Amino acid sequence: MQLTARLETVKNAVLPCGAVLDAGTDHAYVPIALVQQGICRRAIASDINRGPLLRAREHIQKNGLDGKIETRLGSGITVINPGEAQSVILAGMGGVLIAQLLEEDKAVSASVKQFVLQPMNAPEYLRHSLHKNHFCITEEYLAEEGDKLYVILSVEHGEERYEKECYYHIGKRLFQRYGEQEIFLRYLKKKTNAFRKMLSGQQKALLQDEKRIAYLENLLRELEGLGYDL
Ligand SMILES: C[S@@+](CC[C@H](N)C(=O)[O-])C[C@H]1O[C@@H](n2cnc3c(N)ncnc32)[C@H](O)[C@@H]1O
Repeated sequence: MQLTARLETVKNAVLPCGAVLDAGTDHAYVPIALVQQGICRRAIASDINRGPLLRAREHIQKNGLDGKIETRLGSGITVINPGEAQSVILAGMGGVLIAQLLEEDKAVSASVKQFVLQPMNAPEYLRHSLHKNHFCITEEYLAEEGDKLYVILSVEHGEERYEKECYYHIGKRLFQRYGEQEIFLRYLKKKTNAFRKMLSGQQKALLQDEKRIAYLENLLRELEGLGYDL
């Protein structure tokens, strides 16, 4: 089975383990590939909705993996007991929802060694929430599909804080991993231009939000001070 670039990068971020939970699995493509490739011995594929879970079950059966991948109906990490999985994937959901799901069951969360997170939006909210809740971001990856760039985080328990607000928007690990690589420069420019557009929108607004303007100005100052040609 050929995974899309986004799902392939999510899969590759998972560390070898005995059991992985893919929460919000939908099609179950990632746990199927993880078990087929021997990266994880077993998997639990879960979803809050019955339709996606039925789809997951169908794909698991078609690949002859019923004995190795279990499906469960329910929200986020609450579908497992502490110790049942060493890695948890939360992919293709909003950053705010992912942050909430990580806090839904503290005992389960504490027992998990690695989280692989792929937020569709609000990555700054997610990174702030991770640091507030005693997680550190050990790696970040970019995946490109058409004109879209996705960010994938590998997260473990630990203490960490970023010294600049811009690293909450554009992960500090991305700077370290990609440096001057073309894909990252494109990502950086796209994000910076979006902040410039937001700032100009705020400055032209009838009712100006001074706090928001100061926040965006600081963000742009930080980004422009990093030495990239933006
Ligand atoms: C856009 S799909 C992403 C599927 C897959 N993880 C991926 O990255 O391609 C989001 C899935 O998350 C499920 N979902 C939404 N909220 C959830 C929650 N609280 N717990 C578990 N699954 C949830 C939806 O039913 C849907 O199947």
